[in-house]
Amino acid sequence: MNFDPWALAVALLAIAVVFIWTLRTGSPPTPTSAAAKKSMLSLLPRRLPQTLAQTSGAETNINRAGVIYELGAGWGGVALSLARQYPDHRVIGIELAPLPWLVAKLRAGLSGPKNLKIIHGDFLKHPLSDAGLVVCYLSANGLAHLKPKLASELAPGALVLSNTFAVPGWRPTDETAAGDIYHSPIYLYEMSADMEADARETVITPAEPDTASDLS
Ligand SMILES: C[S@@+](CC[C@H](N)C(=O)[O-])C[C@H]1O[C@@H](n2cnc3c(N)ncnc32)[C@H](O)[C@@H]1O
Repeated sequence: MNFDPWALAVALLAIAVVFIWTLRTGSPPTPTSAAAKKSMLSLLPRRLPQTLAQTSGAETNINRAGVIYELGAGWGGVALSLARQYPDHRVIGIELAPLPWLVAKLRAGLSGPKNLKIIHGDFLKHPLSDAGLVVCYLSANGLAHLKPKLASELAPGALVLSNTFAVPGWRPTDETAAGDIYHSPIYLYEMSADMEADARETVITPAEPDTASDLS
């Protein structure tokens, strides 16, 4: 069997880049399986609830439909499905690792609906106060870091959907098992005042817009 040395070099380089970024983010860009994605989407309401921030005044949210964020969008598969399931909502996928981000960006540009935007950056630096729904598939440690940000920035009523990993200390409003061979748990949370109080007990740095992102 003949190997093209250039193809091999490109493949090894891609593997090295993915590996290095996995060390940096703490989460490999493992895509959610099609079956798990179906289970995740089925746990969500057909119409997303309006958060208190969205109903309390015109200036708080002009669009009135909360933004859907996928934090750590990987190769873009879940963000694409969310954008198709919720055409009336803006869907923003944020990914830090360059290779998955590039693929997700290309997929969104080639076959994504108009309400989908993929941005490059660290989601911990991106404000989330306009979110109606946050979706993620990270790691136990990643969620522990994300929790105070979610609690302090999300409006009451906003939803958080997490694949495989539970947000430590939060009680899910609903839960299911992925319909794939792993039967990984999927957790749905609805933000409440208790969760905000929980955040006040944790000192965090306020979010600033991510200058590395291409969201403008
Ligand atoms: C397990 S993958 C999930 C990919 C995709 N959400 C899915 O379900 O198919 C986790 C992704 O989160 C990304 N990630 C982890 N921490 C991040 C951060 N702080 N900012 C942006 N992306 C991050 C990783 O690079 C990785 O691609």
